[in-house]
Amino acid sequence: MTPAGAEFHVYATAAMVAEHAAARIIELARGCIETRGRFSLALSGGSTPKAVYSLLAERHKDAISWDRVHVWWGDERCVPWDHPDSNTRMAEAILLRQVPIPKDHVHLVPVSLAPVECAAAYEASLRAFDAANPLDLVLLGVGPDGHTASLFPGTAAVEETQRWMVATQAPPAFAVRERVSITLPLINASGRAMFLATGVEKAPLVKRARAGVRADPLPFERVRAASVEWFIDSAADGAQLS
Ligand code: 6PG
Repeated sequence: MTPAGAEFHVYATAAMVAEHAAARIIELARGCIETRGRFSLALSGGSTPKAVYSLLAERHKDAISWDRVHVWWGDERCVPWDHPDSNTRMAEAILLRQVPIPKDHVHLVPVSLAPVECAAAYEASLRAFDAANPLDLVLLGVGPDGHTASLFPGTAAVEETQRWMVATQAPPAFAVRERVSITLPLINASGRAMFLATGVEKAPLVKRARAGVRADPLPFERVRAASVEWFIDSAADGAQLS
């Protein structure tokens, strides 16, 4: 049984995944702006999201009322905004500086603060924006170890039940270990989560996602937003094809 609401959209190439994911984001943004007057989106790092951001900026710049869009980050590395590993730097360069979004709708993670204070300040901003459900769509990647956002297997961040944003650490193999991340209570309070995953190294994870609920779930398997959609290429869906 797949988790309630999980849908899998499979395309031949990573480029097609990006195209269809961008189109879906536009569709959701328009619908949300029409019904709620806003579209509040949490961005993810990673290579597939990067391709989606480029398309949103290059091809779909005029497709959304950017003045109704609010942008947040689902996780961030605790490095300055101009650091090569900053998710903020990537999204700003590729998307946010290319579209007419009001500056005060871009909710930057205050990385100049110590991680714990940074997470608390960001959570306060989210709650001030909308105390019930600040995110209309959460974009997520998934790492080979099963992490999503910066929720790494075996960390306290994954077990958080109250806070919406926490300070955490990636395992030693990661270039930048200090992180802040949104938590499962926030992701799961959100209307929608969209996973973007491409490449054969994601195939074991996609296979698990398709198989559904299990006793020892990895962090990404604990995402239970009202709607969960996966945009994947056939390499990531390899286990299904064999
Ligand atoms: C990290 C990773 C992570 C990334 C996933 C998926 O440092 O935490 O880079 O942020 O989103 O690993 O990345 P891809 O979409 O590039 O496979």
